[in-house]
Amino acid sequence: MDYKLRKAEPKDVSDILRLVKELAKYEEMESQVTLTEKDLLEDGFGETPFYHCIIAETQENSSEDPKVVGFAMYYFTYDPWVGKQLYLEEFYVMDNCRGLGIGSGILRHLSDLAMKTRCTGMMFVVAENNKPSVQFYKRRGAEDLSQEEGWRLFRFDKDSLVKMATPAEE
Ligand code: COA
Repeated sequence: MDYKLRKAEPKDVSDILRLVKELAKYEEMESQVTLTEKDLLEDGFGETPFYHCIIAETQENSSEDPKVVGFAMYYFTYDPWVGKQLYLEEFYVMDNCRGLGIGSGILRHLSDLAMKTRCTGMMFVVAENNKPSVQFYKRRGAEDLSQEEGWRLFRFDKDSLVKMATPAEE
């Protein structure tokens, strides 16, 4: 099956949200997705884009519209030891299109982008129980930093932030 990669456009937000939900379902955390198409539109395509997306689409024949079957969401971060980094936030290919090279194609595209922008690495988080993906990344040379360097992932949720933030004026 032929596929094409392209940059996401505003018209893609409904497909992006559909795939975000599919991935969350795959990770058994679908109920945690509260984002809306409006959020995706404002946050990705406004004056300051907070994320970027690569879209993978297939087209069975020229009389049909292309179908969005996969995507990667990423942004640029900065590591004060080594400089610019790509952060791979979401990476998903629909079940019926896996194993065709689309995921590898997306990683090639992101690696080209990393080279062009002089990034020193690409960071990402994988659920420990997502064994097929852990192996997929390891076969391509990814290092498990939690295991090798002992890092642990932390978050302040919104309640904690509200407690630390300057109280709103009465
Ligand atoms: N499903 C998955 N993998 C298959 C497969 C199938 N039906 N059939 C074969 N494979 C193998 C391929 O041989 C290939 O092996 P390789 O690593 O030796 O090259 C690999 O699995 C898939 O490579 P490719 O076809 O390039 O990637 P993909 O299009 O299947 O996409 C993922 C890879 C990880 C994006 C995709 O499997 C996926 O969406 N998984 C579920 C969501 C997920 O875990 N995302 C990552 C979250 S961190």
